[in-house]
Amino acid sequence: MAEIMILGCGFGTALGIMWDKYGHNVTAWSKYKEEIDAIRKDGEHKRLLPGVIVPPSIALTTDLSLASGKDILVFAIPSKFVREVAQSVKPYVTENTVVVNVGKGFEESTEKRLSEVLKEELPNNPIVVLTGPSHAEEVARNFPTTVVCASDDKASTEYIQDTLQNNRFRIYANSDMIGCEIGGAMKNAIALCCGIIEGMGLGDNTLAAIMTRGLAEITRLGVAMGGKRETFNGLSGIGDLIVTCTSTHSRNHRAGLLIGDGMSAEDAVARVGTVEGYNVAVIAQRIARRLDVSTPIIDQLCGVCYDGQNPRESISRLMTRPSRAEEEIF
Ligand SMILES: NC(=O)c1ccc[n+]([C@@H]2O[C@H](COP(=O)([O-])OP(=O)(O)OC[C@H]3O[C@@H](n4cnc5c(N)ncnc54)[C@H](O)[C@@H]3O)[C@@H](O)[C@H]2O)c1
Repeated sequence: MAEIMILGCGFGTALGIMWDKYGHNVTAWSKYKEEIDAIRKDGEHKRLLPGVIVPPSIALTTDLSLASGKDILVFAIPSKFVREVAQSVKPYVTENTVVVNVGKGFEESTEKRLSEVLKEELPNNPIVVLTGPSHAEEVARNFPTTVVCASDDKASTEYIQDTLQNNRFRIYANSDMIGCEIGGAMKNAIALCCGIIEGMGLGDNTLAAIMTRGLAEITRLGVAMGGKRETFNGLSGIGDLIVTCTSTHSRNHRAGLLIGDGMSAEDAVARVGTVEGYNVAVIAQRIARRLDVSTPIIDQLCGVCYDGQNPRESISRLMTRPSRAEEEIF
């Protein structure tokens, strides 16, 4: 059984509950004392996982020095704060600790993948990405879930697969770390689009169009960034896209519903909280322009999110683009 420290008490709490149940020793950290105190007092994370008991066997802390000597250190932190938390925990991280990132997105100022950020801050530790269709609400309730882990270091990938999977949380290994991370980051933008479409009162045809052409766009950009095309047909690609675009659990989807119903993107994000799709859209657009990759859906999403463009105008623009052959992905 492993000694696991999880940084971040949102999705991190769900993972902690699941790994504690399967016999691991779990410590969960939050920067916010009030978050830790509330979980302790209520015995649950009322805001994020109401009704799911957080067992007393999980150690809750605001003390990063407890990271010292752990087998596995999990980052479950919104993409914006990953570097800051890595810098804060760095003095306490033991060399052999395997660092696992479950966050999805890119660092805005550098456009780097989160594993690249972690590698820069924790250069002496193996970094593994754990990603795929895994809503916190369902992981915490032990619903059967499949995810993928990937790393540049095969031994660490296998260690995480063997150690962290169980009969309700199945982990596949993948050697394409870049592709796995890009799928996880980009699907949030497409899920935001799907929410907007539903909020506008449009239907299944339009949703299917955005998901399918969104996947083509993710694949195009992902391959240009160094990912393997087949990865986007797996759990971290189409798998995560399906779960995020079709579920009411997704905050990207919830924010999209509000935008589609007429609220400004800024207000919708302020109301819903962490909306990684809003952050990632503008970064993906910058990367796409730099690599000369066509991303029409992301471009329209950026128009809606950052330039006050009416979503109806965006749909018209997408529907009246020059004709193309479907197999012409690149
Ligand atoms: N929620 C899910 O179901 C889910 C599933 C898979 C992956 N993820 C990814 O995991 C990451 C975290 O998502 P979440 O839903 O847990 O987000 P969240 O907004 O609930 O935040 C998670 C935790 O991060 C910490 N945090 C927040 N702001 C911080 C700051 N400024 N500095 C340090 N710590 C801070 C807090 O402890 C908070 O509880 C995201 O990248 C998300 O895409 C989430």
